[in-house]
Amino acid sequence: MSVDIKEFNECEDILDIKNFLNSIIHGDCLEVMKKLPDKCVDLVITSPPYNLLNSTGNGLKKNTRCGKWKNAAIKDGYKNYDDNMPYDEYVKWQKACLAEMYRLIKDGGAIFYNNKNRVQGGLLQDRGEIVRGLPLRQVIIWKRSGAINFNSGYFLPTTEQIYMICDKNFKLIKGANKYTDVWEITQELKNPHPAPFPEALIDRILSSAGGQIVLDPFAGSGTTGVSARKFNRDFILIEKSEEYCRMAKARLDGYEWRDANNFEPCQFEIGFEHE
Ligand SMILES: C[S@@+](CC[C@H](N)C(=O)[O-])C[C@H]1O[C@@H](n2cnc3c(N)ncnc32)[C@H](O)[C@@H]1O
Repeated sequence: MSVDIKEFNECEDILDIKNFLNSIIHGDCLEVMKKLPDKCVDLVITSPPYNLLNSTGNGLKKNTRCGKWKNAAIKDGYKNYDDNMPYDEYVKWQKACLAEMYRLIKDGGAIFYNNKNRVQGGLLQDRGEIVRGLPLRQVIIWKRSGAINFNSGYFLPTTEQIYMICDKNFKLIKGANKYTDVWEITQELKNPHPAPFPEALIDRILSSAGGQIVLDPFAGSGTTGVSARKFNRDFILIEKSEEYCRMAKARLDGYEWRDANNFEPCQFEIGFEHE
């Protein structure tokens, strides 16, 4: 069945979750989540923008036209979003988003929040500040495969983190603890979105955690929805960029990438940044 893109209307009262199952909501996720009722989803699986354009030193900068970043898919930010906030503002925003996600999970639910440690201006931004105050149960390391090493001053970074924030009654599906806390999963290279999840990562989460309704508030190209379908779960996707909403819809409706508004496959690595 074809997936609907629903425009978010700020004037609406509390949204009836039934009307949004297996659809994409076009809007700002914080505003949308504020209009969803308490304890209405089982799982949240998401990866927000990492604030990569807010770089010190030798990092990724906006409008990079040459040097090591010239081919980075994320170099101009996302469509409709430039990924460049002062750090304190970014932390405040992400804390507000996570507080909403936590309000939305049911008893026994969990949030899988993917982000990435950064070192900026000589200081570690380990995202501990963002998740502080929530019941963090475990940090899973996502080990991606290798990439081009741009900088001889640094070892090639290949890891990101998945913060598992759980209601006290959350339990893994029997046997899933065999996956350990280091997941070696190759990054996605064919997806034209600049920072997509690999499907295998979401498959791993859904084969480890039960629950019928899965929310992704930073849905991008809709990978969480694609994987949710495979596991016969219901999804709710929220995405601010209209273009990415269309990309997710085309993908969920079964089109090949080349048919989805002629998006070219992305050939470049993202997220491997250094000072
Ligand atoms: C890291 S990407 C997520 C990619 C996604 N996991 C996928 O597989 O394609 C983050 C997404 O958040 C979106 N975004 C940024 N700010 C947002 C906001 N306030 N509300 C909703 N989406 C937002 C961006 O447009 C981008 O698509």
